[in-house]
Amino acid sequence: LDLTSKGRRAALILLGLLLQPQLGIGQQQCPAKDFYEPVSANRILEFGQNTQHDSGSPPSFPCWFDLNLARIGQDFARKNFGHLFFATSLSLIPLGSDEQSRRIILTARRHNKSKDRLKSNLATSQQVLLWYNMDILSPQWKQSIDHVRQIHHGVSAFVNSHEEFSLNQVDTSGEKTVWNDFKRDVEMWKAFKKDLSTVQRSYRRSHALAFNDPSKTFKLNQYTMAMALWAFTALPILNPDNLGIRHRSEKDLQGFAHLWAIIGYSLGMEEQFLFCKNPVNEWEDCKNSLKDTFNNHLLPQVFDLDTEGETSIESFFRGTADLFPGIPPDVWLINFLEKQLGVKATNLRRQQNVASIVLGSTASWFVSDLASQAQSFQTFLNNLMISMFRLHSLKLFGDDGTNSTIVAANHYTWSIDH
Ligand SMILES: *[C@@H]1O[C@H](CO)[C@@H](O)[C@H](O)[C@H]1NC(C)=O
Ligand SMILES: *[C@@H]1O[C@H](CO)[C@@H](O)[C@H](O)[C@H]1NC(C)=O
Repeated sequence: LDLTSKGRRAALILLGLLLQPQLGIGQQQCPAKDFYEPVSANRILEFGQNTQHDSGSPPSFPCWFDLNLARIGQDFARKNFGHLFFATSLSLIPLGSDEQSRRIILTARRHNKSKDRLKSNLATSQQVLLWYNMDILSPQWKQSIDHVRQIHHGVSAFVNSHEEFSLNQVDTSGEKTVWNDFKRDVEMWKAFKKDLSTVQRSYRRSHALAFNDPSKTFKLNQYTMAMALWAFTALPILNPDNLGIRHRSEKDLQGFAHLWAIIGYSLGMEEQFLFCKNPVNEWEDCKNSLKDTFNNHLLPQVFDLDTEGETSIESFFRGTADLFPGIPPDVWLINFLEKQLGVKATNLRRQQNVASIVLGSTASWFVSDLASQAQSFQTFLNNLMISMFRLHSLKLFGDDGTNSTIVAANHYTWSIDH
């Protein structure tokens, strides 16, 4: 059989079409529109906190999977990786304020040393970067999703079988942890609270079941998964301009939202907790749900931050300072207030020291007009971030972190047999 190159291509396309049903693409019909009517953002806590974190869904793609859209999202995410990483780091303020999410992290990682934390932050970021780079249809993609899903199972089993760990108890329990020596910057938090009080507070907080409440079956649950998904996606979707993400179309953002809905689904999130499955048709709904999640669940908890919350957030930022060229915690807080909440951080700026003002300019690069107007500068920042990751990876793991098999097998310190 003598195939011309055109014929070969046709044969390949045909083969692709034949294989598609097996991959679960384009074959399933989605049920009627309201079959998976999403839980409203207002009630996600109520429904989500007693729902297991993993729906046990099969690893195939869902009926609403749109390969082209997901690839648009990947392309966008690759080009804006630095800015997206910046956005996720900023999201650690609202995420760290969420009591349920915070307790999982604290309980699971109570003994971990700062070097282990750095490793695991880096591994997570590398994983995310690989998800932006890999072919979604490749076996490596599936393997890497499966791996993270297993890690979640390990974390879930661990927190379910352990007592709550609260920083408020550290002094009396006498337990030796990484937190014993951690002193938060009390003046900084006072200033933050003062500045925050100028934000109009219009939503009341919905209360979660306590971590060790016996009626609470699942500690890592669909609610906490939804909060994590929020942290990876919401700020760039809701507020791209203020993050310096200017060269983008609406379709780019929709692709990004869809890509993460696919990732959430593949990690076992139930469809009713995914807000942005069909962002092209339901773009306003998607954005409103992300906004409501912030207003109803996260922002009220930022207002109510206690010592534990402040300590956790500050320690997250000290952790990212190793990855991000030295941005100190107050710079993140100032950025959050001014760029995301739209109020002046007068008090925080007053207590900034010189180092923080100088290093703060690193942060302003990311959101500056220069970065957003000059494409070349944006590309420069992006490449800078990616090479920083490689450098740290070589130092911490001995490889550059670009091989998904190696990242999955060697970069996570959390093994599933805890
Ligand atoms: C992190 O802490 C958990 C819980 O104590 C423990 O099982 C795990 O081995 C720790 N990881 C490292 C790298 O120390
Ligand atoms: C990634 O690493 C694995 C295991 O070492 C190796 O078999 C594979 O060839 C590597 N892949 C690439 C693209 O280098």
